[in-house]
Amino acid sequence: MQQTEFTQKPWAGRFNEPTDVFVEAFTASVGFDRRLYRQDIQGSQAHARMLARQGILSESECAAIVAGLERIKTRIEQNKFSWSVPLEDVHMNIEAALTAEIGDAGKRLHTGRSRNDQVATDIRLWLREEVDEISHAIRALQRVLVDLAEREAETILPGFTHLQAAQPVTFGHHMMAWYEMLERDLERLRDARKRINLMPLGAAALAGTTYPIDRDYSAQLLGFDRPAANSLDAVSDRDFAIEFSAAAAILSMHLSRFSEELIIWSSAQFGFITLADAFCTGSSIMPQKKNPDVPELLRGKSARVFGHLIALLTLMKAQPLAYNKDNQEDKEPLFDIVDTLRGGLKVFADMMAALTCDRARMRAAALQGFTTATDLADYLVRKGVAFRDAHEIVGRAVALGVKRGCDLADMSLDELRGFSPAIGEDVFAILTLEGSVAARDHFGGTAPRQVRAAVARARQALAASETLEAP
Ligand code: ARG
Repeated sequence: MQQTEFTQKPWAGRFNEPTDVFVEAFTASVGFDRRLYRQDIQGSQAHARMLARQGILSESECAAIVAGLERIKTRIEQNKFSWSVPLEDVHMNIEAALTAEIGDAGKRLHTGRSRNDQVATDIRLWLREEVDEISHAIRALQRVLVDLAEREAETILPGFTHLQAAQPVTFGHHMMAWYEMLERDLERLRDARKRINLMPLGAAALAGTTYPIDRDYSAQLLGFDRPAANSLDAVSDRDFAIEFSAAAAILSMHLSRFSEELIIWSSAQFGFITLADAFCTGSSIMPQKKNPDVPELLRGKSARVFGHLIALLTLMKAQPLAYNKDNQEDKEPLFDIVDTLRGGLKVFADMMAALTCDRARMRAAALQGFTTATDLADYLVRKGVAFRDAHEIVGRAVALGVKRGCDLADMSLDELRGFSPAIGEDVFAILTLEGSVAARDHFGGTAPRQVRAAVARARQALAASETLEAP
């Protein structure tokens, strides 16, 4: 980045001394906010068009501005733009380049505008796009999960509570649990998007502007739902960034939990799943190791997203109205959250698409730990025993099984009848894993039939959102 002359600073008029060189670098944001160049240009072009429509700029000035900004965009994209630290940020860099490019008309662009409403507009435009990208990435992961759920609708593994085998569940049902969590993440993002998509432009520095601007027109040009209703709020509000970060933190927490399960399931002790080699690495010392790096890193990356949420809340907590330079600190957390989520969602979807299940290992694990004990209690209830008594009876049968090292289904009918005369020959059908899952055949239950129904509903929702999102 090049240094420019003191006199080139757009606000240099009231200053007698140059900015301290270190302070200049310390206060500059161009090192990171140049990432907003596209939105900055988009916002400026809309602003210029609105000014021209209102007779504040001439049509030829507007045309020169719009075309000049277009050329600057190309230069930036071709890496031919030289960013200047003394010009502080993306806004002044582009404006200065525009004036250098087209002369006096460039100097008129900032009429009725401030960097305060400009930067808030840029971030909202940028975040709106990113929310849409993240939503697509969530949908892509959901599609993989739905395919997996359908493929493994009948696969049985132990469901856990307290990480102890609890009751048999189907792998498909388990995958659809993650689908539901992602569905809520998507809803939260969509809801946050409504409050992202409001336009600060026109608030100028804080109080509005004396020019006869048409904020509805700029909002329309930029695809905002409407202009923000209060100029002080418009330039200082970062609620939308916090809301987005909160939704992102919850999503990251989900990915972290999901990762944790994959890590446990892929261990030699569980052996339920195999992660494709492409998503693992080895150890430099232990030749046998295949480490689940990708899920571990995803679990770890949730930490930085949580941290950014707290950073943004803390950034805002004591700010008086209206704009304060503190707000410059809003960008890096947002950028990092977006990068973390987009990378994480993509790698997650790819990893899940390449996942293989060891059905025999899952089944064997489900056969341990008396996972059908509740089914036996429910059976006794159907035979007229009160549930509390049934619980007690089954508890005693389990105690015998623990002592002998055998499952309930391995006991003879006589042995089982020793615990309750209500038990008959038909008990063995309900003690099987297949019988256990098939019996939970209601909306939201784990039965393969219900998994297929959930998959069908999900496919409809996915298809509907595809048509909704189509251009
Ligand atoms: N770089 C600044 C930011 O990110 C732009 C707004 C500057 N406004 C000001 N009054 N200094 O917040």
